[in-house]
Amino acid sequence: MQIVKTIEELRPIIKGWRKEGLSVGLVPTMGYLHEGHKSLIVKAVSENDKVVVSDFVNPTQFGANEDLSSYPRDIDRDATLCEAAGASLIFHPEPEEMYAPDNCTFVDMNKLTKGLCGKTRPSHFSGVCTVVSKLFHIVTPDLAYFGEKDAQQLAVIRRMVRDMNFDIKIVGCPIVREEDGLAMSSRNTYLNQEERQAALILHKSLTLGENMIKAGERDAIKVKNAIIKNIQTEPLAQIDYVEVVDAETLEPVESIENSILVATAVYIGKTRLIDNFSKDLEGNGR
Ligand code: PAJ
Repeated sequence: MQIVKTIEELRPIIKGWRKEGLSVGLVPTMGYLHEGHKSLIVKAVSENDKVVVSDFVNPTQFGANEDLSSYPRDIDRDATLCEAAGASLIFHPEPEEMYAPDNCTFVDMNKLTKGLCGKTRPSHFSGVCTVVSKLFHIVTPDLAYFGEKDAQQLAVIRRMVRDMNFDIKIVGCPIVREEDGLAMSSRNTYLNQEERQAALILHKSLTLGENMIKAGERDAIKVKNAIIKNIQTEPLAQIDYVEVVDAETLEPVESIENSILVATAVYIGKTRLIDNFSKDLEGNGR
């Protein structure tokens, strides 16, 4: 498995694969990989001849007071995981390789990115759309893999691909959790022992909401309020948002019908964690 740091080196490799008629899958990541990332890579390996994992902490998706400098990085560990999962290549550029000092072109979207995480992180999805577009142009994959853990990101990328006519199929992959239910995240490394325990409140509270829906509750406000109340029982938790939205438009819904997404962001101490579940009451596979 190769680790490639420049676009100039990467392009001829991809062209070579194309000449051989091989299909290419892309798994975009910010590194410090865990089993959640691995599940995406393993799926990509099963569906493509070649798999590129991008490993790049993208500065444009971090706000001024966010954790860009402290975000965990360990390329050697990542390489071991990628190789074990069967990836063909890691694309690991420096920020200067991806962004010229006078870069002034961004990809943005005026819907889907305003609510949920976009409220607290107003420039985040512009950074995500920009870097993912760049990766799509650089790697030119047939398929690209994204986790449902970042449900808003997945919806935004699907919309961007549709609106910008990228000839790429987006594959959504289920959330991978620790045994006790905590959704895996590179940011879980920020949690101390007490916070790690407190972080379980996200999944526990969402499960409570999910069970209400399973039992027939269709009032979105009731479900939302029950989740909020449950999260508030944890003293270390500070809610950023709890929302019940349409899974495609991400607009809040009053009544639970069709495909919905129930998403939350909660500060545990200083660490902001996200989690969600989705329900498709019409039984349409998404
Ligand atoms: P990152 O947080 O590293 O996540 C990379 C991919 O792994 C995303 O698609 C994310 O949804 C998925 N993922 C993370 N934790 C997961 C889990 N527990 N279960 C399933 N999938 C999981 O998301 C980003 O990076 C960046 O925004 C990126 C798309 C790479 C653009 O910079």
